[in-house]
Formats: sequence, C-alpha cells, structure tokens
Amino acid sequence: MAEETTFRPGLEGVIAAETEISWLDVDHEQIVLRGYDLLELAQKCPYLSVAHLLIAGRLPDKEELTALEQEIAQETPLPQPVVDILAKLPRTAHPMDLLRTGLSALGPFDPDLEDHSSEATWRQSIRVLARVPQIIATGWRLQQEEPIVENDPKLGYSANFLYSITGKRPTQTEAAAFDELLAVYSEHELPNSTFAAIVVASTLTDLYSALVAGVASLKGPLHGGANEAVMHMLIEAKTPDGLERLILDKLAAKERIMGFGHRVYMHKMDPRAQLMKTALHQLVAGTPHEGLFDLCVRGEEVMHREKGLYPNLDYYAAPVYYVLGVPIPLYTPIFFAARTAGLLAHIREQYAHNRLFRPRVRYIGPQGLHL
Ligand SMILES: CC(C)(COP(=O)(O)OP(=O)(O)OC[C@H]1O[C@@H](n2cnc3c(N)ncnc32)[C@H](O)[C@@H]1OP(=O)(O)O)[C@@H](O)C(=O)NCCC(=O)NCCS
Repeated sequence: MAEETTFRPGLEGVIAAETEISWLDVDHEQIVLRGYDLLELAQKCPYLSVAHLLIAGRLPDKEELTALEQEIAQETPLPQPVVDILAKLPRTAHPMDLLRTGLSALGPFDPDLEDHSSEATWRQSIRVLARVPQIIATGWRLQQEEPIVENDPKLGYSANFLYSITGKRPTQTEAAAFDELLAVYSEHELPNSTFAAIVVASTLTDLYSALVAGVASLKGPLHGGANEAVMHMLIEAKTPDGLERLILDKLAAKERIMGFGHRVYMHKMDPRAQLMKTALHQLVAGTPHEGLFDLCVRGEEVMHREKGLYPNLDYYAAPVYYVLGVPIPLYTPIFFAARTAGLLAHIREQYAHNRLFRPRVRYIGPQGLHL
C-alpha cells in the first residue's frame, strides 16, 4: 500500500482533531467557544461560568453557578502530603516545576482517578479547578517563606486566587480584571499544550497525567513562557524609546521578540490581545503605572513597522499581571490555571470519542546496514 507522503513540520495547518469545544475563526477575527464569542464571554461572564460552559457543555444558570462555587470551596484544601512535597522542592525551582510536581502528586489523592466516566471526570474537574490555584499559591508562598493564605469565603473564585498569591485582598476593579484575564486565557482550540494533553489522554491514561503533559508543554518559552519574557523586556526597556532600541537590537541580532507572532494569527492581531490592551488601559488610568500602556503601544508600533507582526495575548496580559501585583514567575502558572477549563473539556471530549494518536514518520535515515 502506498505510504501517505504529506509531511508538515510542526503539523502546521493539519487538522488533528474534531471538536465541539472551540475554533479560531481567523477570517472573522473571532474565537468561537461552544458557539459563543470568547471575548463576549470574557467581558460578560465570570470565569467560572466560562469554565462550566467549556467542561459541562453549556452556560450554568444561577443555581448551578452557586453550586459549582460551593463545591469548589469544599474541595479547595490541598492534601497535606502534597503541601509537604511542595515544601521539599528547591526554593529556586521555577513555579511551573512546582505546579507540574504538585499536580502529579495530587492525582493519587483523587478517588475517581481511574474512572473515565463523564460523572467521574466532572467531579475530578471540580477538584482540579479548586486545587490548581492552591498549588500555585501555596508553592509560591512556601518559596517566599510567607504564611499560606486561607481562602476568604466572602471573596469569589478569582479574587481568592489573587488574594492567596499576594496576601492582599484585591479591590473590585482588580478582581474583575483578574477574572477577565482568566476567562480570556481559558481556551484556545489546539495549542501545543492542549494537543499534548489529548495525545496523552488518548492512551486512556488518567486525567491528571494528561494535565501534567499540558503543564510540561506550557512551560516552554515559545508557548506559555512568553508572558514572563515580555515583562522582563518591558522592565529592562523602562521608556518607549528604550523599548524601541531594545527591539531593534534584538531584531538585528536575529532574536525573537516575545509576545509577538502566532502560528495561527501570525500577520493578524490576536483578538485576545486587543481585549487585554483595553483592560490594561483602564487599569493603569490615573495610577503610577500609566506609562506602562504607552510603553507597550510603542513596542506594538515598532514590531508592526519592522516585521509586520502583531502582539499575541501574552504581550498585553503580562503588564496586566504586573499591575495586579502578580509576581513575574507566576504568569505562566496562572495561564495554566485559567487554561485548565479548556484542557479539562478537551480531555473529557477525548475520552468520550477516543482514537489513539499514533502518526507515522517520513524516514530519512539509512537503510540496509548490517553488523
Ligand atoms: C509563536 C511563534 C512560535 C509562532 O512561530 P511559527 O509559526 O513557528 O512561525 P515562524 O517561526 O515560522 O516565523 C515566521 C517568520 O516570522 C518571524 N517571527 C515570528 N515571530 C517572531 C517574533 N516574535 N519576533 C521576531 N520575528 C518573529 C520569524 O523569524 C520568521 O521570519 P522569517 O520568515 O524571516 O524567518 C513565534 O511567533 C514566536 O516565537 N513568538 C514569540 C514567542 C511568543 O510570543 N509565544 C507566545 C505565543 S501565544
């Protein structure tokens, strides 16, 4: 039988899965989430509603949302051995390494671990939504030798997440901006981390193993790690002129500018970046951070002029995190926490319609050798 000869490096443009969860409708500059527009959802619905839409397949009514919030609150405390494992990791470890290890350690504590039924993976999803923020915040506070912050029952999901990291109760504006940021990051079709997670899930291994594959993928600087690099660049640049010089120097040295370009959008604006740009503008207005917005805009202008490239979500999300007081090493872990909603949805969908991923290669090595 003739071999399929089409080879696309990086699987660029290849349709690798059929899904009801989301789609990047690039022509219409829209990110479709179960029929809705992601940007509209992010502006009008709390993150947990978007998570419910993704994982359960429909938006929750008021009672369902309250029930979800209560169930998450009950599942929030981490098993003590998981806290102990986090405490034993080097103080210098990157928070993504803490998250990967913590999530891996959490799996065996889940009573539904080996059950792939829809009911069991829903219960697991609630535990994951509850505990991933806890792993991130607890790991960070342990590293900083700061006391672990218990959730405040008066605060919502996103406000508590931010509070558990910073130890400072966010204002309503800050909580709303963080909630919008989580919703914007919640799902994005088939990026490397989601692909990694469904490839792993297709062996019918457990849901936590598939999520751990997602963390491992997201850590890379070409994927989730870009948001941290963006903030370091903005801090180093200090002023718009400084940023212009920095970008030109990097481009002259053939370096990539983090926060620009995207495999799917590439020469179009990532619609999520536009939303975060607006959020940043509102957040810094009248604060000492006002200059940060002009700084970012200059970077955007320079990259468009020099390379015809547009910012991706990470470019404008990084300064939003910064203004909210989130420590830079936590930018990628928080991206993952937000993305658990999408990942859980994809893993559940994979279990429900499974076909093992097993592609082929184009062999370019020698043949017919003998010892
Ligand atoms: C996201 C990314 C990996 C997509 O890359 P890709 O689809 O593999 O695209 P390519 O690497 O083929 O790049 C195409 C061209 O654009 C250039 N390019 C792409 N992103 C660039 C960037 N951030 N800075 C400078 N040049 C860039 C490449 O150098 C290449 O130019 P060339 O054709 O002259 O060699 C890439 O844009 C990138 O590295 N961005 C920075 C990291 C980042 O922000 N990641 C977060 C993504 S949400």
